[in-house]
Amino acid sequence: MNLDTDLGNGSSICIWPILGDMLHTELASHLRTAFDDDRDADTFLLRLERYGPDLVESLTQVYGDQAPALLDGLIEVMLHAFHNRPPDLRRLDEARLLRPDWLQSPDMIGYVAYTDRFAGNLQGVRGKLDYLRGLSVKYLHLMPLLKPREGENDGGYAVQDYRAVRPDLGSMDDLSALARDLRGQGISLVLDLVLNHVAREHEWAEKARAGDPRYRAYFHIYPDRTQPDAFEATLPEVFPDFAPGNFTWDDAAGENGAGGWVWTTFNTYQWDVNWSNPQVFQEFLDIILYLANRGVEVFRLDAIAFIWKRLGTDSQNQPEVHWLTRALRAATRIVAPAVAFKAEAIVAPAQLIHYLGSRVHHGKVSDMAYHNSLMVQLWSSLASRDTTLFREALQAFPPKPATATWGLYARCHDDIGWAISDEDAARAGLNGDAHRRFLSDFYSGTFPGTFARGLVFQYNPATGDRRISGMAASLAGLEAALETGDEVGISTSIARLRLLHAVVLGFGGVPLLYMGDELAMLNDYGFETEPEHAPDNRWVHRPQMNWTLAEQARHDVNSPAGRMYAWLQKLVQARAATPHLHASVESRAVHSPDNRVLMLRRDHPLGTMLGIYNFSHEDVSFPTSALREHLGEQAEDRLSGGRLTFARPTVRLEPYRAMWLTEL
Ligand code: GLC
Repeated sequence: MNLDTDLGNGSSICIWPILGDMLHTELASHLRTAFDDDRDADTFLLRLERYGPDLVESLTQVYGDQAPALLDGLIEVMLHAFHNRPPDLRRLDEARLLRPDWLQSPDMIGYVAYTDRFAGNLQGVRGKLDYLRGLSVKYLHLMPLLKPREGENDGGYAVQDYRAVRPDLGSMDDLSALARDLRGQGISLVLDLVLNHVAREHEWAEKARAGDPRYRAYFHIYPDRTQPDAFEATLPEVFPDFAPGNFTWDDAAGENGAGGWVWTTFNTYQWDVNWSNPQVFQEFLDIILYLANRGVEVFRLDAIAFIWKRLGTDSQNQPEVHWLTRALRAATRIVAPAVAFKAEAIVAPAQLIHYLGSRVHHGKVSDMAYHNSLMVQLWSSLASRDTTLFREALQAFPPKPATATWGLYARCHDDIGWAISDEDAARAGLNGDAHRRFLSDFYSGTFPGTFARGLVFQYNPATGDRRISGMAASLAGLEAALETGDEVGISTSIARLRLLHAVVLGFGGVPLLYMGDELAMLNDYGFETEPEHAPDNRWVHRPQMNWTLAEQARHDVNSPAGRMYAWLQKLVQARAATPHLHASVESRAVHSPDNRVLMLRRDHPLGTMLGIYNFSHEDVSFPTSALREHLGEQAEDRLSGGRLTFARPTVRLEPYRAMWLTEL
């Protein structure tokens, strides 16, 4: 192979065969000439030596013969970004290298919000740091804020320009300034990186539509239905209701000004990019490093499962997805080791685990991934008042690599899809189909006696799937109880929300508090009157922040918002004081003598921790023998601060009671 790296000073050198042996090669001295400062050169070369082989291997797996030429371009991109990395971020790089487990620490608390709905604009967020501090937030995910297309844009997931901020939210400089302020308070800025698709109005798509062959090759465009139909035979539909099918006809996308079918997995205006084109890889690396230098510390890799297409498959979770992530990760580590990746892969557990780096990818892909199953099981157990399925699902989960971290949540900006496998259901004595139907009925408010108020999202008549939209508090019964002034109902719904959050904060990982849930905010039906939001009922759970309620919550601890907020503060504090919750340790579901109660065991070197969660509305007399078996004769409850001695045969668990017991 013959790769010439142009160092911008007229010299070039073949780097491909010798990358593994960097520092002792001619290449090293050539690369050195790209630096004014010897120490900078050392830093870059040491990191290249460390991660370069990984980058080369990953690129080769995906791009074969084209990899050497790509690497050439990537080195340029990396050098450029390295030179432009601001001093405070370089310092953060060093700090993170000394604390590689920063995302696993029990004091990590995430908060997820839409900039405009939370604080008007980026400037406004700077004025809300006190509020975030009140919840000990250390990780702030601001929902998509890069410049989207105008009109409908899937909540910002149709990006028109990755190097500009949505104008009404501020500028790139405002973003950097905010990131700096956040960093000063120990809060990491998290942004979405939408890498499966761009807006139809993105420059690349515009150029493709203008007939530029270079940019047509950035997308998957077909002249007729032959290929699309062949793919469709095995592709699922993500938005069967408002964007059926996976391809969209575009009058200008074809060759020589003709029309063409464009791959659009999500909405018709979201054009899937073609990652088999090495140029696309280079563009995205450039974007990542640009944003990292603006102060973004964690990238949420949006819809990552979909980026590689393969005929005859569902075109999700293909092996190339992991090699691509690994290559992006290696290159990012060379320039900006402070940065972490979070995979948004809402896929089956056996697939999900690969996003955290199992087998050959161990420690080399994302640092974090959403634990979608945990979220689904929380709502499933709440409806059925039975944790058998929860336990079965967790027990069947492949083990998490020790270096990785779960993103844990009760609700997020998306719908809840009932990702429950037939096998797990069968082991719990349930019929998968019937249980999923029950959950949709329950949470859309049609099941007799249900407490929930939710909306059906994307009914798919072909599969019978009915996903659910709704704020946690409305799904947990608060909306209905407030309407009828049912005091018991109000308390019970708050108890349910408190239980869900106790599991989320007690599981080990980064809890992602979804804006408004800390105040038990309800569904916002106002979206129905906004033309851009009306077709997509996920907006029912994307309300404007209620600052009056936030104020009330801090002073009136008896109001529903106050009860929720106080409980979260308690959980946050208890969590920070419980080193057993370090995310390197896994939570395992263990056998519970009472199906209403979930038992999660953590084997930390400091001692065993047991999470006890009563998912029913009943008092449970729980046999202490089941606790003794794991904890010995006594334990401390980190939530109540009390000590428990297991002398009596049973211990009383009030409805929806949570305990975090640690061995004494
Ligand atoms: C992710 C986002 C979702 C969006 C989709 C397409 O799943 O969470 O809101 O619709 O990606 O970008």
